[in-house]
Amino acid sequence: MNTPFRFTTCRAGSEPVLKRDIATHFAGELTPAFMKPQFITWKVRSPGFSPPRTLSTFARVSGTSVGLCKTIIEVVDQARNITKQTLRLHVFPRITNEDGVEAATWQRINAIHAEITRALLQAGVQLETRLPYAIGDLILDVIVGETDAEPLFLGLHEHQASSHIQPGGLPHITLPENVPSRAWLKFEQALAWRGWDQLDLSGQTALDIGCAPGGATYALLQRGMNVLGIDTAEMDPRVLQIAKTQDVRFDHWRTAAGRINLTALPQEVALILCDINLAPPEVLPQIARIQDSVQARRLILTIKLNTPALEDRAHEFIDAIRDWAPAPVFATQLAANRREICVCAG
Ligand SMILES: C[S@@+](CC[C@H](N)C(=O)[O-])C[C@H]1O[C@@H](n2cnc3c(N)ncnc32)[C@H](O)[C@@H]1O
Repeated sequence: MNTPFRFTTCRAGSEPVLKRDIATHFAGELTPAFMKPQFITWKVRSPGFSPPRTLSTFARVSGTSVGLCKTIIEVVDQARNITKQTLRLHVFPRITNEDGVEAATWQRINAIHAEITRALLQAGVQLETRLPYAIGDLILDVIVGETDAEPLFLGLHEHQASSHIQPGGLPHITLPENVPSRAWLKFEQALAWRGWDQLDLSGQTALDIGCAPGGATYALLQRGMNVLGIDTAEMDPRVLQIAKTQDVRFDHWRTAAGRINLTALPQEVALILCDINLAPPEVLPQIARIQDSVQARRLILTIKLNTPALEDRAHEFIDAIRDWAPAPVFATQLAANRREICVCAG
């Protein structure tokens, strides 16, 4: 389907960086058309210009804009016009909270999802629900506004290796009350994005760099991993407690990542996590040095982009990571990320 408009969804507050990122990379070929919080559509300026399928690291979902629909009948009509191919249906809220979508919102979305599914099937549209996703699977995105008065937005995207399989990039994961920090949620969302939540990580070793107070370490230990945490700060006592009760090992080196003795690191490291709250030009060389020594199979890096100048260098940082991290390297802004992006490698 080739309409002259594209759409993107993003985190609340990332609209300005998303606009700058697309303006820089597409040099006027895509210009903002319609904006709502966490949602921007783009006009393709030159008829011959074909934008890539993924428009920006700061867009959790991007694709072709089909248009607004006031009723589910309109959604079905549009879907039938778009393609005769099998579709996957993603229904998700436009407005998302960084600590996860609330249960009441999911209830509303689930009801709309069920209604659209019924109507599409009745109209003879073939819907695929089985896993796994294949590259090129066609996804019908239905974006739901804050109230029933707001029309549904309809978009279409092709599944790519870097795409989220959860509608809107919003996994149904809630931050538990009893974990040491919201890094627990960022880690679990990163696993879900890459499909690594399906891996059995138990008995393997993780390095958690910038581990205090310990939300991510807590999640690693819950998943049965042994963890070496590196941070000058103190850990939450719940981390030490879970290590005891779950028969997993937690060691804490209370030092800065740049000062560790590389020869003392474990031999077999399955996963490196990094969430150091320093700017990437300081952090990345330290992680590269550690990765050079341990050759971890997978990396999950939270890259802090606390200023517009750092945000505008996101691609430079991702390219630098590609030089030393295991392939493939993908970047996204997870729903739980703040002024930061998540880079997964391996
Ligand atoms: C955002 S917090 C990490 C949250 C943590 N991942 C969790 O799961 O709760 C950033 C941490 O980076 C640590 N940090 C800052 N500079 C560091 C360095 N050079 N080496 C190791 N840790 C560092 C800070 O002490 C702080 O605890």
